[in-house]
This record gives sequence, C-alpha cells and structure tokens, in this order.
Amino acid sequence: MPQKIRKAVFPVAGMGTRFLPATKANPKEMLTVVDKPLIQYAAEEAVSAGITELIFVTGRNKRSIADHFDKAYELEAELELKNKTALLETVKGILPKGVSCIYLRQADALGLGHAVSCARPAVGNEPFAVLLADDLIMGNGKTCLQEMVETYEYHGCSVLGAQQVPMEDTSKYGVVDAEKAGDRLWSVSGMVEKPAPEDAPSNISVVGRYILTPHIFDLLETIPSGAGGEIQLTDAIAELLQKERVLAYEFTGKRYDCGDKLGYLQANVEYALKHDELGEGFAEYLRGLEV
Ligand code: UTP
Repeated sequence: MPQKIRKAVFPVAGMGTRFLPATKANPKEMLTVVDKPLIQYAAEEAVSAGITELIFVTGRNKRSIADHFDKAYELEAELELKNKTALLETVKGILPKGVSCIYLRQADALGLGHAVSCARPAVGNEPFAVLLADDLIMGNGKTCLQEMVETYEYHGCSVLGAQQVPMEDTSKYGVVDAEKAGDRLWSVSGMVEKPAPEDAPSNISVVGRYILTPHIFDLLETIPSGAGGEIQLTDAIAELLQKERVLAYEFTGKRYDCGDKLGYLQANVEYALKHDELGEGFAEYLRGLEV
C-alpha cells in the first residue's frame, strides 16, 4: 500500500489578472459561487479525500483566506445569542475537526511551480495533493480528488487530473503525450505547457488537480523558468516522468474555469440550480427571464 495522502497544497498567490477589477484587492479564491468562496469548495474536496493538513501558499492581499478558515469569536457569539443554530453550525463547520491549516508566503509570484516549491518545508518527504481553487469541479458521486486518491492508492504513482478539451483550446492548458492505460487512465510520456493546437501532442489537458510524489521538489529547484518567464509545474512534471511513472486520470465530474469570467458565471448558474434551498426558485426565475 503506498503512503497515505495526508496533505494538500493550495497555491493561492496568483495575481488573478483575468478577473480584474474584482481581484484588485480581493483574492480570486475568495470569489463566491452561490454562497461559498472557491477556496472552501477546494478545501472540502480535499477533506472528502481524507486530507487532514491544508497548506496554503499565499501572497499579498490574501489575508481574508486565513480569516475564512479561522475561528470568528464575535460572529459565533452573536449567532449563538440570537439562536441562529443552523448558521452557527455552518460557520463553525468551515474547518472540520481534525483538519489543520498552514500558511506560507510566496513573496514573488514566480509561477505555479515556484508556489508549489514554497510548500516543501510543510510537505516534507511524502506524496501530496495540489488543488487550484479556481478550477471548481462538481463531483459526480465522488469528488474529483477522491477518485484521484483511489487511483493513486491502486497504482502508487503521481496522478494528474485530466480532461479532454477541444483541440483549439490546447493553448490554455498543460497538455500530455499519453497512451491509454485503462478506463479513464493514461500513461504519460511527455507534457507541454499551453501548446498551440498544431504542436499539441493530444487533447488530454491537465486541470488544477495533482497528486505528486515528493521528488517533484528536487526537480522544481533545478528547472529553468519556462513559458511566461514563470517556474512551471508542467516542466517539473515533464522531468518527473523521465524518472517515474505518471498517470493522467480523466475525472468523471464537471470542471468550471472560475479564473475566467464566463466560466465563473456558468458555475454560479449551475451550482445555484443544484442548491437545496435556492434551486427551485432560481430555475423559475431563469424560465421567466426574457432575453
Ligand atoms: P493562473 O495561471 O490562474 O494565474 O495560476 P493567476 O495569476 O492566478 O491568474 P491570471 O491568469 O493572472 O488571471 C494558477 C494557480 O496558481 C497560483 C494561482 O493562485 C492559481 O491558483 N499561482 C500562480 C501562485 O500561487 N503563484 C504564482 O506565482 C502563480
């Protein structure tokens, strides 16, 4: 049995330029889909997969993320006083019992690979997950990370969360060169960051979910900066797969690119339609809209 995945890294130090002006002073991970910030969805997904240590790699303007997972004494006292029990439980349950948070700072936004390498002191020498909160994934029974952890536990190697995208969209993703290795599973032999469609090795694209072995940290320290002058996680994974097995797993859920305004709007509509309290009323409202 491979080592258990206990830790998840959340790189949240990006600038969020695609979502300006909303992200000028607020982190994009605190944008809400219906009634929860993106980062809470990602933390819940990690916890659903058995993770007990949440490691946030933060930057400037990101204090509200730590506040969100912290105890809110005044608010809790006020809700208790007013007997608002359900809301009190919602607020208290944001960080489940037995789960702890660690915050590290990435002083300069030098890229996703660099952000992940900042987490090394907190991760140590064990396999870990990386979740990008702006990729919101609506699970299909199981959550995306649950499916990936099961794949990791069976195969004992790094697993990348993947989806097939239209060929014309490859330049938005890390794309793998891969051979089919089972149901929804691909054995990865190469990986490139944001290739033009004519240069893309396939249409199998990696989205913001990774399970990585700790060898990635040594590689992140040696790779030169790549696309956009950033230290790319993709480049380190391309090195990793020269040394050990890396699988791409096509998850069953639906992904929304919430770092992009259109993807974010789509997520809000679809999550609202599925919301226990709001779904019906919202559907009725949409039906009555004249467009
Ligand atoms: P993105 O490529 O989405 O970059 O980063 P971004 O800066 O957040 O957003 P745009 O493209 O300017 O709109 C992917 C993930 O990596 C994190 C981001 O927070 C996001 O979760 N990241 C990126 C860092 O933590 N540090 C970095 O230096 C870069």
